[in-house]
Amino acid sequence: MLVRPRGRPPASPWPVACGAVPEPSAPVHGARRVLVRGLREVERVAAGARRRLENGAAGAPPAPAERYGALWDPSADADAMALILNTTDSETFEATGRADAERLSAYLPDGGTALDLGCGIGRVARYLAPRCTTLWAVDASARMLDLARTRMAELSNVRYARCVDTAIPDVPDGAVDLAYALLVLQHLEREDAFLLLEELRRVVAHAGTVVVTFPNLLSDTYLAAFLDYVRNGEVTNQARARMYTPDEVARVVTAAGFDVHLEVDVEILAVCRPR
Ligand SMILES: C[S@@+](CC[C@H](N)C(=O)[O-])C[C@H]1O[C@@H](n2cnc3c(N)ncnc32)[C@H](O)[C@@H]1O
Repeated sequence: MLVRPRGRPPASPWPVACGAVPEPSAPVHGARRVLVRGLREVERVAAGARRRLENGAAGAPPAPAERYGALWDPSADADAMALILNTTDSETFEATGRADAERLSAYLPDGGTALDLGCGIGRVARYLAPRCTTLWAVDASARMLDLARTRMAELSNVRYARCVDTAIPDVPDGAVDLAYALLVLQHLEREDAFLLLEELRRVVAHAGTVVVTFPNLLSDTYLAAFLDYVRNGEVTNQARARMYTPDEVARVVTAAGFDVHLEVDVEILAVCRPR
């Protein structure tokens, strides 16, 4: 079932750029271009994927907190900006954060509590926190959280929490009015993204809102990114983006316990209300 967002809907789609998705280097002509690639190229890609699997198999499995966290380990803010938004331009980075916070504020009651899942260095949290009583900044990466703490040091109402795999143990049930995850769930295995959707369902108040984004496989941009992954043997890159169709998003979000309204563009924006 679809619900309309309360208040003003976002004016434009969420940012298209996303760290782990390489922009296509050349125009893509869909499946035809894949089919005309020779056997040698297929072998090269397969060999690359095999090497990654062998390397991965050699080490001990990472601790739950590190399974995703260790994949996002920037050295400093500039490195984090590149991982998060494919940019090193701080003005662009900050401008998108301000714009996204403005859009999200339509779903935040006055002085409400918010939770930014996969907050990175606080691109959005930095601008939404002044409108909140409390903002939880949550990420799987200890390094991202360290950089976020420094970047938002002047904001005393921001609480920091580590996401352990697909759980946010520090945040109580029903504690937040607005929970959002922008450019995050796509970087998890689909099953784990679903578990995190259920975790967002747990932490959001009954009358609250959850806003999440997914890359739209039906867009040319993300079909090209998907084909780039295919060609470059990125199947073993655990931080790669998983693309979704709008129907898939509606299906999984509903199964996680929400009524959902979708805004579909290059990014799919799902505005979710607990059922
Ligand atoms: C592309 S960045 C987006 C950052 C931020 N949401 C933004 O829009 O600026 C993805 C973020 O998700 C975080 N992340 C990845 N897996 C996660 C998980 N299982 N739980 C919480 N955060 C996760 C990464 O550490 C990284 O900070």
